[in-house]
Amino acid sequence: MDRPVVVVSNRGPLSFRRDAGTLVARRGAGGLVSGLGPLVAGTEALWVAAAMSDGDREAAAAGIVDAEGFRTRLLAIDPEVYRLAYDVVSNQTLWFVYHGLYDLPREPAFGRDLREAWQAYREVNDAFAEAVAEVAPHGAAVLVQDYHLGLLGLGLVERRPDLAAVHFSHTPFATPTWLRVLPDHVAGEVLSGLAAHRACGFHTRGWADDFLACAREVLALTPRTFVSPLPSDAADVRRAADSPACGAALAEIEDEVGDRLVVARVDRIELSKNLLRGFLSFDYLLDHHPGWRERVVFLASVYPSRTGVPAYIEYQGEVERLVGRINDRWATPGWTPIVYDTRDDYPRSVAVLRRADVLLVNPIRDGLNLVAKEGGIVNERDAVLCLSREAGVWDEVGEAAVQVPPFDVAGTADALDLALRMPAEERKARAELLRTLAVARKPADWLADQLAAAE
Ligand code: F6P
Repeated sequence: MDRPVVVVSNRGPLSFRRDAGTLVARRGAGGLVSGLGPLVAGTEALWVAAAMSDGDREAAAAGIVDAEGFRTRLLAIDPEVYRLAYDVVSNQTLWFVYHGLYDLPREPAFGRDLREAWQAYREVNDAFAEAVAEVAPHGAAVLVQDYHLGLLGLGLVERRPDLAAVHFSHTPFATPTWLRVLPDHVAGEVLSGLAAHRACGFHTRGWADDFLACAREVLALTPRTFVSPLPSDAADVRRAADSPACGAALAEIEDEVGDRLVVARVDRIELSKNLLRGFLSFDYLLDHHPGWRERVVFLASVYPSRTGVPAYIEYQGEVERLVGRINDRWATPGWTPIVYDTRDDYPRSVAVLRRADVLLVNPIRDGLNLVAKEGGIVNERDAVLCLSREAGVWDEVGEAAVQVPPFDVAGTADALDLALRMPAEERKARAELLRTLAVARKPADWLADQLAAAE
C-alpha cells in the first residue's frame, strides 16, 4: 500500500533564524537529519518537529512551511515544559539509561524533579500527537524517530486509528538491568508507549533484543520489532568532501600537520562517545611506544552538544583539562600532540576524515555511528578504522576495522599502534572493504524498511 508519509522527530531538518528582517532556514545538525534529510527532501512527505530556537518559534506560527525542499510543521511548546522534557527526561535520564552512563553508586537519585519532568515529557508527547493528528493525511505512515517521542504511538491510536505509526530508535535500548534504574512507572510507560506503535525499529539485532527482553519482563508482551541500520547518503557526503570549503579546510590541516601521521576523531562532545579514554589511550601510546612521539598528531574535531545539561558541560571541562595535561606532557617545539577543535564546522570535520591515517571511533555504547561509515566513504589515505565493538555500526563494518575495547585504555592504545604500523597492502584491502560495506545499503532501503514495518 502506498501511504503518504509523515516523519516526526524532536529536531527537524531545518533550523530557522532571523537575518536582516527575513526568516532564513538552515539545514539542522546531527546524525538523524543527515541520514533522513536527503531521503525526505523534495518529496511530499511532511516533517513534524519541535521548535528549538526563537526563529523556529516564528516558523511554527506560520503553520506548514515549505523551505529548502522540506514541508515542515514546527511545534512551539512552552519553553519550560520543553526544557524539562528534552534536557531532564530525554537527555539526562533516558539517554543515560539507554547508554549505561550513570556512575551508579552516586547517581541517579530521582525525586520530585523527575516526577515534574516526566509530566512535561507526557505533555510534549501529547502535543506532538495532537499536531500529527491534525496534519497527517488519511492512512499515512507516521515514522516516529527516537526516545524523545516514546509515547506518541499511544496518543495517535486514540486520536487517529487510521494512521500506521512506526517507532525507530537511533540509540541503543536499555538492558533489563539498566531499565530497572528508572522509576517503575516511567519504565512501564516508556515500554507501553513504544509497544503501541505497529513496530519498533533499531539499528541492530542486539538493541532490538534488549528492548524485547525489557518488554517481556515488564509488560509480559512481545512487541513487533525490525532491524534496519541507517545508511549514510554517500552522494551527499562526497558532495561535502568535494566542496571548496572542505578543500580550504584540508589545506589548513595540511599546514598544521605536515607529513606527520594523523589519528582523527569527529564527534559531538558527548559522554557516550568516550572522549576521555580516547585521549588517555593516545597518552598511553606516546608513553609506551615512544617511537610515535613527534611523528603522530591527534586531530580531534569535537563540538559541544546539549549544553543545557550540566553533565555535558562538566564533561567538556574534564575533556579539555585532560587534553591540556597531555599536550603539556609531550609537546615539543613545532609539535602539538593533540589538535583540539570545537568548531561545529561540517566542511572542516569532513576534511579531518579525508586526511586521517587512523580514525578512532571508540564509544562506550552507540546506537549506530555514521562517522565510521562517512570516514570510509571520503578518506583518501586508506585510513584504518579503530572501532569500538559497542557501536551499532560494528555489525555492518566490523570486519574491515581494528577492534577497540572501549574501557581498556592500554588495549585501545595497542589498537592505535597496530593501525599506525599496518603495512600499506593490508591498509588498502581494509579501506576498500570498508568503502564497500559503508555503501552496501542505500538510504532508500532504510525508508522501505520503515514503510514495510507500517503494514
Ligand atoms: O544518536 C541519537 C540522536 O538523537 C540522533 O538521532 C541525533 O541526531 C543526535 O542524537 C543529536 O541529538 P540532539 O538533537 O539532542 O543534538
